Amino acid sequence: MDEADLFQRFDVTGLKSARQRSSSRKISESVFDKDTLMALYKLAKKEAFTEITGVVSTGKEASVYHGLRDGEDVALKIYKNETSDFRHMSKYIRGDPRFASWKNRRQLVQMWAQKEYKNLSRVCEKVRCPKPIEQHKNVLVMEFIGDGGVPAPKLKEEGPSDPGACYREVMGFVGEMYKLRLVHADLSEYNILDYGGAVVIDFSAGVLLDHPRSMEFLQRDVGNIVNYFSKLGVEADYGTALKGVLDAR
Ligand SMILES: Nc1ncnc2c1ncn2[C@@H]1O[C@H](COP(=O)(O)OP(=O)(O)OP(=O)(O)O)[C@@H](O)[C@H]1O
Ligand SMILES: [Mg+2]
Repeated sequence: MDEADLFQRFDVTGLKSARQRSSSRKISESVFDKDTLMALYKLAKKEAFTEITGVVSTGKEASVYHGLRDGEDVALKIYKNETSDFRHMSKYIRGDPRFASWKNRRQLVQMWAQKEYKNLSRVCEKVRCPKPIEQHKNVLVMEFIGDGGVPAPKLKEEGPSDPGACYREVMGFVGEMYKLRLVHADLSEYNILDYGGAVVIDFSAGVLLDHPRSMEFLQRDVGNIVNYFSKLGVEADYGTALKGVLDAR
């Protein structure tokens, strides 16, 4: 496959997710700027993926696509170089010893993608999350959580069949992350998929304990989880849950 072929192949104007195939929604093309196409080209050459087959989600900061890698499902998360929220991202990067300073938005977006890759790599042996495959510039390739190109539902969408067990599982993951010196920092029912158990996603905000605001982010994560599961009737207590995490070390 040469460059022109690849660019043509990624002219994804007509791509739709399995869920949306019947709707006529056109995907935003702004994500595929020249740098992004070059990053995809490089990743395809490294065989991180072989095809992009459909859109899973288009957000303000990132779009997620379903792809294939030797017949296996993969997810490609592409951070938008243009529309990403500079102030929001810098809040979660400044103070993280793994990252130096950045010169411009593009560099920050790249570090943001790298941060998600590093965070996933750090915890994926202990916490159920998508296995990271490769990251280059603003593109992250990872394991696809779902079947037939359709992502597993978020807890927000369907809710767990056994809320008590799911609560304990999720808090167990928060404890494991803490032991590995990571705070997710964007944990809620929006970033947990239900795929035969909880799977945590969206690790880009995640910070190390060295980050000056890590405790504040941990408290917010625990608060979100306790609130969500309390509404489902689980006896979840914020103080006990937080202590459980802090004692996990
Ligand atoms: N590895 C994955 N496998 C399957 N689906 C995924 C995967 N990663 C993300 N998704 C899907 O894409 C959606 C958005 O992903 P994510 O939460 O990582 O990005 P985001 O930055 O929150 O994007 P948005 O701005 O759209 O909220 C998820 O809710 C999920 O439906
Ligand atoms: Mg998310």
